[in-house]
Amino acid sequence: MINLMLTSCTSDIAPAGASDIPVNAHVADELHASLGAPQAWISPKFLYDSLGSKLFEAICELPEYYPTRTEAALFARHGAEIARVAGAGSTLIDLGAGNCAKAAALFPLLAPAQYVAVDISSEFLHDALGRLRQRFPHIAMEALGMDFSQQFELPARVTAARRLFFYPGSSIGNFTPDEAQAFLRRLRAQCGDDGGVLIGIDLVKDKAVLDAAYDDALGVTAAFNLNVLRHVNTLLGADFDIRAWRHRGFYNAARGRVEMHLEATRDQEVRWQGGARAFRAGDCIHTENSYKYQQADAVKLLERSGFEATRIWTDPQCPFAVIHAQAIPT
Ligand code: TRP
Repeated sequence: MINLMLTSCTSDIAPAGASDIPVNAHVADELHASLGAPQAWISPKFLYDSLGSKLFEAICELPEYYPTRTEAALFARHGAEIARVAGAGSTLIDLGAGNCAKAAALFPLLAPAQYVAVDISSEFLHDALGRLRQRFPHIAMEALGMDFSQQFELPARVTAARRLFFYPGSSIGNFTPDEAQAFLRRLRAQCGDDGGVLIGIDLVKDKAVLDAAYDDALGVTAAFNLNVLRHVNTLLGADFDIRAWRHRGFYNAARGRVEMHLEATRDQEVRWQGGARAFRAGDCIHTENSYKYQQADAVKLLERSGFEATRIWTDPQCPFAVIHAQAIPT
């Protein structure tokens, strides 16, 4: 229930440079609207400030968080074949590159002509790419610090030929299936008939495995999720008391997705520049979904979006698919 919602939105709220995402009226408006919605939510892209990116790196090391490890094993095991299918000399566009480690592991086999790392966590990305340039001086590299979740246009310095979009980690699952289709169509529109995608998609599996992966024993995932409140405090001049919230992460089988929420542990009022809201104990802020696909549905999703799967690599022990798909000529 919204008790207090002021309508005016101010621009230039926090000092510039206080966070990775430039503080602007657009970000403030977006957060103001999502926190004020009947069911409060925060876009998952705000999970990734510099600390969030580091916490996510730590999640990837957790025994419970199988996606990174499972996908890396598929790349290691089938790398040569993946490179044969995808072809050397591509323009490799890494969406949500983070520390660039996944793409870098494929460089020796994939030998891209140009590597374009895209991530909203701009500072973290530039640091990572600086290190990568020293390891692979012969590969031309570009860092693009931007939000590609809504809409994006690749600048002209990104080679137009042979664009291969690299979208690992099942990040596609963080969109609803409709949003995922719209997103993949935007990729299709940004590559020629010689383009393609190399994508990692998590598949439906045992609920206990999913629940543990998104609510680990050490509490790293909880810290990662709670960190979004700290980031919002910076972005919006909000006063979330992080100790008054707890992490919730669980598989919702009926909806085919893992849901991440932050739950208020007591009644409270949160204020920010331009607004405020009362939360009761037990109220939740929805932070992310992670849809889990059936393999056939993943292939259909790609097809509806203008890509035809050429090869699928899966792990029979822990269902996860790496798919190469090529642009369906228009
Ligand atoms: N893209 C990751 C996933 O869906 C992000 C993630 C992992 C996440 N654990 C989380 C997001 C916990 C929010 C909270 O697997």
